[in-house]
Amino acid sequence: MDYSIDCIRYFIIYSRFVTEAIGMKKTIGICMGSSCFARGNREHLELIENYLHGNKIEAEVKFSGCRCRNECGRGPNIEINGCLYHEVDTGTLLDLLVYHFSDVNIGV
Ligand code: FES
Repeated sequence: MDYSIDCIRYFIIYSRFVTEAIGMKKTIGICMGSSCFARGNREHLELIENYLHGNKIEAEVKFSGCRCRNECGRGPNIEINGCLYHEVDTGTLLDLLVYHFSDVNIGV
């Protein structure tokens, strides 16, 4: 199923609103299946860890790996705050991290 850009924007904004409104912890789920891992999530794993550590927000974000989601052809896949992103490259991932987590307060 393909979504228009407007539809994707709606999902991103809605998921961010719901997450903040009900006080849910923010989440990142990275697909660790062999296809996604080989197609970029090996590097993305380290990039996400460095981003969370560098911004001192590890405690505020639940970061976990997941098994293959049967979306291999559209990988590498990463889920952030309930939105599943496909064909993620390094530049897109950095943009997504800034978008989703730039407002996270440091848990000091
Ligand atoms: S390996 Fe990631 S969806 Fe299959």
